[in-house]
Amino acid sequence: MLKFGMIGLGHWGPNLFRNFYEHPEVSLEIICDRDPAKQGKLTRYDVPFTTDSTEITSADNDLDAIILATPLKAHFAIAKAALEAGKHLFIEKPIAPTAAEVKELMEIAQAKNLHLMVGHVFLYNAGIRYVKEQIDSGELGNILFIHGQRTNLGPVRNDANALWDLAAHDISIFNYWLNDRPYETTATGSCLLNPEIEDVVSASFHYKSGIKCNILASWLHPNKVRQITVVGDKKMLVWDDMAGGEPIKIFNKSIKHADTKEQVEGTISEFNFSIQDGQVLIPRVKMCEPLKTECWHFVDCLLENRTPLSDSLNGYEVVAALEAANKSMENNSQAIAIEY
Ligand SMILES: NC(=O)c1ccc[n+]([C@@H]2O[C@H](COP(=O)([O-])OP(=O)(O)OC[C@H]3O[C@@H](n4cnc5c(N)ncnc54)[C@H](O)[C@@H]3O)[C@@H](O)[C@H]2O)c1
Repeated sequence: MLKFGMIGLGHWGPNLFRNFYEHPEVSLEIICDRDPAKQGKLTRYDVPFTTDSTEITSADNDLDAIILATPLKAHFAIAKAALEAGKHLFIEKPIAPTAAEVKELMEIAQAKNLHLMVGHVFLYNAGIRYVKEQIDSGELGNILFIHGQRTNLGPVRNDANALWDLAAHDISIFNYWLNDRPYETTATGSCLLNPEIEDVVSASFHYKSGIKCNILASWLHPNKVRQITVVGDKKMLVWDDMAGGEPIKIFNKSIKHADTKEQVEGTISEFNFSIQDGQVLIPRVKMCEPLKTECWHFVDCLLENRTPLSDSLNGYEVVAALEAANKSMENNSQAIAIEY
């Protein structure tokens, strides 16, 4: 039996708690939130509660691992204490506010031979995995661009902007699908509710292959959209997480250069295009609960000493991209090289 402690019982923490609690090889020994009122959320589970996270991150207890779901700004100090105490760590995304801090955590984890996994939950989503298979198999042809939209009316955060809160998911998905990490980014944002926090962000991430991945992230939109369009030169695909049991549509559509070139006055020549407008396939995707898959994967990795799919390197690359995109927003959307 692995002994776990958990810190952060706000909006997201209780979801993690339930999934770890249900694992037959995990014993949740203690939970923590600095706000005593949060204890009320999990009273029916009868797990000891504390408001002091150092009780959980202490080397003196016999916990094997810690689950951390506090706001971003509180991540680094608690994560560092947990790793220094020799605890494996599951940390919510994004790992920390700077890539330098993530690197420091990675180094501690490596030196102490500990697992550090980040909660990039969409890598455990059956639809997202299905899209990866389509991209990897060449079904869509060469990928030309990817466009994502992640919007909703709230929840409004005051500890992170929409880029850090929402686009972290999309960057983790893009990197996973393309087996790569972006080298450059441009971004623009609008502070509409709070003068210092961007509620609406539009960002573009550029990959060596020439692919640009764009994302619109906003918590000031009338409806909840979780959608990504992948355009290949053979087929196109839309992943829609709000579409229930049919999250994927594959469009047998493309536009190609025709063999002929048309002579246009004043120019040398202009390409003709031929449009293929074929059928739409809605594949059957065996759905699973992504959060459960993610949480149980962490346990498997501890039991079998395996590297998690969303490991610390994955988390580091996402934070480096977020940091650069934030810099671009602060510099009039200037293109910023992403440093790793
Ligand atoms: N994977 C996902 O889909 C997903 C969804 C939502 C949130 N998240 C992530 O989960 C984390 C938490 O988000 P949330 O929406 O639950 O935030 P929240 O603000 O609702 O809850 C955070 C909780 O942490 C507690 N806390 C803050 N500092 C603390 C400290 N030093 N010690 C103990 N407790 C402390 C707060 O009292 C609060 O109850 C964030 O990193 C966020 O990005 C992930």
